[in-house]
Amino acid sequence: MPDSEFQRHQPFEPGLLFALETSCDETSVALLQNGREVLCNRVASQEELHARYGGVVPEIACRRHFEVIHPLLEEALEVAGKSFTDLDAIAVTHGPGLIGAVLVGVTVAKTLALSLDIPLLPVNHLEGHLFSPILEHPELKPPWISLLVSGGHTCLVLVEDWGSLKLLGKTRDDAAGEAFDKVAKMLQLGYPGGPRVQKLAAEGNPQAIDLPRPMRGQGYAFSFSGLKTAVHRVREQYSPADLCASFQQAVIDVLVEKTLQAAEEFGVQQVSLAGGVAANQPLRQALEQSCRQRGLSFYVPSFEYCTDNGAMIAMAGYQMARLGITATTGLDAHASLPLQAWRT
Ligand code: KG4
Ligand code: ZN
Repeated sequence: MPDSEFQRHQPFEPGLLFALETSCDETSVALLQNGREVLCNRVASQEELHARYGGVVPEIACRRHFEVIHPLLEEALEVAGKSFTDLDAIAVTHGPGLIGAVLVGVTVAKTLALSLDIPLLPVNHLEGHLFSPILEHPELKPPWISLLVSGGHTCLVLVEDWGSLKLLGKTRDDAAGEAFDKVAKMLQLGYPGGPRVQKLAAEGNPQAIDLPRPMRGQGYAFSFSGLKTAVHRVREQYSPADLCASFQQAVIDVLVEKTLQAAEEFGVQQVSLAGGVAANQPLRQALEQSCRQRGLSFYVPSFEYCTDNGAMIAMAGYQMARLGITATTGLDAHASLPLQAWRT
C-alpha cells in the first residue's frame, strides 16, 4: 500500500456526503447528511445478469457498473433535491473486491472530487459493513464486537475505538455467504444462494443431519469449506429442505458461539452483526436471543443495509473524515485490502 494513497487532515464532519459502491455486483450511490440522515440510497443490482452463470462474472460486472453509475448518481441527487455543488465530500470503496469493478467507482469518485475540489474519503468495503449498524443506531459506540459475514468475507472484529479495529479471526477458506451460495448451487437452487437456502431451510429439520461444527473451540478462525463437502457427501440421502436446514444451523451455531466467546473474552457489552449474510433471519434471531440471555446489546442493520449499499460506505467515509484521513489523487483500486490500511 503506497503511502501516497492517504493523507492526514484536521478531523472534519462533512455536511453532505456522497458515496459510491461498486466492489461486486451492486452499483450503489447514497447521500448522507450530517453523518445521520440517509437522504438517498440507490442500489442497481446486477443479480439477473449473473444468475444464468451461477455466480458473478467480473467482466460483466465492470461493464454494467460503467453503464449505470452516471445515471444513478444523477438520479440520487435529483431524488434528494441536491446538486453537485451542494456536496461536501465523496466517499468511495477502494477495495477489497473485483478489481475492475472497484476501479469504476474509484475513477468516478476521483474525477468528481477533483472537479468539485472537495475531499475524497477512501473506504474499505468491510469497514462499510462494519459501520453499517450505526446508520440506524447512532447510539452504538466503541467498544463492540462485530461479526462480519458476507459473500467474500467472514471475520470477527473488536472495535476498540473509532480508529482502532482489531481483527480477531477470519475464515481460512470459504466465507459464510460463499458456502451458502455453493450449497445452493449443489442443490440447484439458483443464485444468489443465501436467500434460497434460507427459504428452503424453513421447511426442513435443522437437526436432521449431524453435520460438523468446523473450528469449534479453536479461537476465532472459521472454516466453511469442509461443511460444504459434508453436505455434498450426504446429498442423496436427505431432502433438500433438511440439507438446507441442517447446513444453515451448523453455520449459525459456529458464528454465534465464536461471537459470544469474543464478547466475553474482551469484556464487551455490545455485539453487532453485518454483511450480506446478516440478512439471514434465523442467524439474526439466534444471535439476538443469545445476546439477550447474556445481557448484551445487539445491533443489526435492516435488510437494505445488510447487502452491499452506498449508505454504509457513506457512514464509513464519515468515520474516516472524523479521523482526518482522506485520499490523494493516487488512490487506487485493490482486490484485497487489510482493515485500516491507512495505519500501515
Ligand atoms: O455483503 P454482500 O452483499 O456482498 C459481499 O460483500 O460479499 O453479501 C452477499 C452474500 C451472498 O453470498 C449471499 O448469498 C449472502 O450474502 N446472503 C445470504 C442471505 N442474503 C444474502 N446468506 C444467507 N441468508 C440470507 N438470507
Ligand atoms: Zn459486501
